[in-house]
Amino acid sequence: MATVLLINGPNLNMLGEREPDIYGHTTLPEIEDSLRETIEGAGHAFRCVQSNSEGDLVEWLQQNRNGDFLLINAGALTHTSVALRDAIKFTGIPFVEIHISNVHAREAFRHHSYLSDIAVGVIVGMGVMGYDMAARFALEQLESK
Ligand code: DQA
Repeated sequence: MATVLLINGPNLNMLGEREPDIYGHTTLPEIEDSLRETIEGAGHAFRCVQSNSEGDLVEWLQQNRNGDFLLINAGALTHTSVALRDAIKFTGIPFVEIHISNVHAREAFRHHSYLSDIAVGVIVGMGVMGYDMAARFALEQLESK
């Protein structure tokens, strides 16, 4: 049995209310429940966290460094956080970076990611379906191990 981790960064707790024209109407608990069902249904463990604080996410990663696969939407920290990059690198956990919106079609400051070059894969612009796609990919990766 493997452990799949899901991290959501700043402001993603407001999904459903936040800029629905960009991020849609699905809430974070709905996303987390759906992933829990997929991952636990496949016989693996699932742990998730959302935080608006960079330091809390760094600490959570340190504490959960025994995870086997990470799915992460770091929100705005994607574009700013060397600390989060370093924490993920420290864990050595393979990960998929997720963005609900197509960050490349938005402001220039969203075009750079501190995570993409060390990710196994990146999903952008597929809406909240991107989380399900990433979870299915994670299961496939774990099963081919
Ligand atoms: C986001 C894109 C980021 O640029 C933004 O800061 C977010 C959400 C996305 O899911 O599309 O908070 O990661």
